[in-house]
Amino acid sequence: MNDKKTVFSGIQPSGKITLGNYLGAVKNWVDFQEDCRCIFCVVDEHAITVRQEPAKLRAQTFELLAQLIACGIDPEKYEDTVLYIQSHVPQHAQLSWLLNCYTMFGELSRMTQFKDKSSKYSDNINAGLFTYPVLMAADILLYKTDIVPVGIDQKQHLELARTIAQRFNGVYGDTFTVPEPFIPKAGAKIMSLSEPTKKMSKSDSNENGYILLADTPDVINRKIKRAVTDSEALVCRRDDKPGVNNLMTIYSIAAGKTDEEIVKEFEGRGYGDFKTAVAEALIEMLRPIQEKKDYLLQNKDHLEKIYTESAKKAEWLASRTLEKVYRKVGFVAKGK
Ligand code: TRP
Repeated sequence: MNDKKTVFSGIQPSGKITLGNYLGAVKNWVDFQEDCRCIFCVVDEHAITVRQEPAKLRAQTFELLAQLIACGIDPEKYEDTVLYIQSHVPQHAQLSWLLNCYTMFGELSRMTQFKDKSSKYSDNINAGLFTYPVLMAADILLYKTDIVPVGIDQKQHLELARTIAQRFNGVYGDTFTVPEPFIPKAGAKIMSLSEPTKKMSKSDSNENGYILLADTPDVINRKIKRAVTDSEALVCRRDDKPGVNNLMTIYSIAAGKTDEEIVKEFEGRGYGDFKTAVAEALIEMLRPIQEKKDYLLQNKDHLEKIYTESAKKAEWLASRTLEKVYRKVGFVAKGK
């Protein structure tokens, strides 16, 4: 093994990736591959804590894998990257059971996501919903993870994973690496196109508010055309112009231009021209990603090869941690 740091993240196979997810999170993960060992896992076991339609869950799992690879999370390109499906590596569920016995009922009761989800899904408050953070701790701790890139909504779960690791280490001696959260630097925060003071989110009831990585050129053109701006017809960044600021951020990333260059380019021109340029740049940025994703979904053998090889590597790493943990708690080793 080398001394690269290990990054782990789990991604729910729910819905689609928005431009906001891509620029705010996925791109960071892509960059981590340059100097870290990266373990990315599509967490289908977490997904079933709320009711899923089987065919849809399966399709979304394939779709997410293809989308992530297309975005550049690529085990074929980076030999220290793995991208696999959680249920393919049984050690996640196995360690999760064990860690359940080192997690307090009171701790789980305080998780805000549990409280939110149990009021939202009040007809299905199952035990899995309650112990969800323990499975997440198992995901992370199996791989001696140093860094976990998470959104702010997952910070409390990560804190709990740290508590569980420290508790176990306290009883049995140094066993688990205690992970650190990685909260992305202030950078590309993409706002809703229809209400630019709110974050871009696919749970927005107005589908014109967000752009999906899978949106076709027509759809992108339409959504950008409808994006809320202001009545000033002046392309520049200013606190009281959230809509224009947001389009400038998107354009700056998609076209690789600075704010200054953008302001100059659209001096004396209206928002119509600006929006056309934003949409075109965005379509061009997304085109190769969409092509790669479509290729993978049409060539499932290739996709299968990637996630299967990754799962084997992950299982090897995970089994070493699990064996060590089993030994520490006093389980008898399997015969050879
Ligand atoms: N709970 C995370 C979410 O909903 C997904 C997740 C599962 C995860 N296991 C993880 C994230 C481990 C980071 C590390 O987004």
